[in-house]
Amino acid sequence: MHILGIETSCDETGVAIYDSNTNEIISEEIFSQAPKHSLYGGVVPELASRDQVTKLLPLVSMTLQESGISHNEIDGIAFTKGPGLSGSLLVGATFARCLSLGWSKPCIGVHHMEAHLLVNLLEKKPPSFPFLTLLVSGGHSLLINALGICNYIVLGQTRDDAVGEAFDKVAKLLGLSYPGGPEIEKVAKFGNPNAFALPRPMVNKNHLDFSFSGLKTAVLYTVKKEKKPININFISDLAASFQEAIAETLILKSKKALLETGLKQLVIGGGVAANQYIRERLQESLDDTEIFSPNLERCTDNGAMVAVAGYHRLKHSPITEDFIEVKPRWDLSEL
Ligand code: KG4
Ligand code: ZN
Repeated sequence: MHILGIETSCDETGVAIYDSNTNEIISEEIFSQAPKHSLYGGVVPELASRDQVTKLLPLVSMTLQESGISHNEIDGIAFTKGPGLSGSLLVGATFARCLSLGWSKPCIGVHHMEAHLLVNLLEKKPPSFPFLTLLVSGGHSLLINALGICNYIVLGQTRDDAVGEAFDKVAKLLGLSYPGGPEIEKVAKFGNPNAFALPRPMVNKNHLDFSFSGLKTAVLYTVKKEKKPININFISDLAASFQEAIAETLILKSKKALLETGLKQLVIGGGVAANQYIRERLQESLDDTEIFSPNLERCTDNGAMVAVAGYHRLKHSPITEDFIEVKPRWDLSEL
C-alpha cells in the first residue's frame, strides 16, 4: 500500500509517501516557515495558513515525482485533522479531500499526536504495544499508555505551557530566535547545567501532570536580577540550567509512570525529542528501560509521520472522511 501524508497543523508544510510493503518513506518534502515567523518571535497563524495554500500543491507534485510512482498507485490520502491551528488544518484537510475525490481514493483524518507517536514504527527496531510514550512538542506535553493503534490512555499532561512552548518563551527571554528549542540547545552546550537552582515543577506530586509556566517565570526573574547588558556566559549557563530542569522533570515523571504501569519500553516523540541532551539524560537515567526515539528530523512536524499514521488508521478502522472537517482541539483518548 502507498499512503500520501499531508501535515499542516502549525507552521510546517510536510508531504510524504509511505510504502507499507517495505515500511519505508519513498519520498518526502518539507517547507519550513521558521524564518518567516522568527521575525515575530513566534507563529503568526494567518501567515502560516496563507503560506501553506501556496506551498502544498508544488510540494505534493514534487513528492509524487520523486517517488517514481503515479497517483493511480496511491491507496489513500492522509492529512492532519487536529489538533492544531484551525486555518492551517483546513488547508491540509481541503487539499486532501479534493485529491481524494479527484483520484477516488480514501481520505484519512489523522490525530497529530498519534502521528508523532506512530512515526517510531518506521525505525528499524520499532517498539511493540503496549508501551509508555512521552510526547513533548510545541503544543503538548503528554505521558501516554499506548495500548494499541487508536487505543491510548492519557496518564498525564501539562496544566499550562507545553515543554516546547517553554523552550520558545525562555529563548525569547534570553534574546535567542524562534524556534527557541534548537537555539537553547546550541548555547547550553557551553553552559553549566548546575549554575542556577531552577525549580523542577510538580515532581513531588503524586499525579503525572506537568507544569512549566513557573519554571519560565523563574528564568524571567533570574534575567531581571542580572546586571545589563547580560553576557553570553550568563545566557549559556541559564540555558543549560533550564534545559537540565526540563530534562530532570521529564525523567522523574517518566520513571513514575513506568513504575505505576509496569511498562518496560519508553517511546519519545515531538519536536523537543530532537534535543540530544534530553535524549542522553533519559537514556542514562532510565537504564533498565528500552527507549525508542525517531530520527532527529522526524521529531519535529513532517509528512512522514502523517503517512505512517494514516496507513495504520486505515488498516485498523477504514473510516474515510466524506466532509471537510478539522478538530483544532482533540483529545488523544477520544480516538
Ligand atoms: O512537534 P513540533 O514540530 O510541533 C508541534 O507539534 O508543536 O514541535 C515544535 C517545538 C518547538 O517549540 C521547538 O522549539 C521545539 O519543538 N524543539 C526543540 C528542539 N527542536 C525543536 N526543543 C528543544 N530542543 C530541540 N532541539
Ligand atoms: Zn507536532
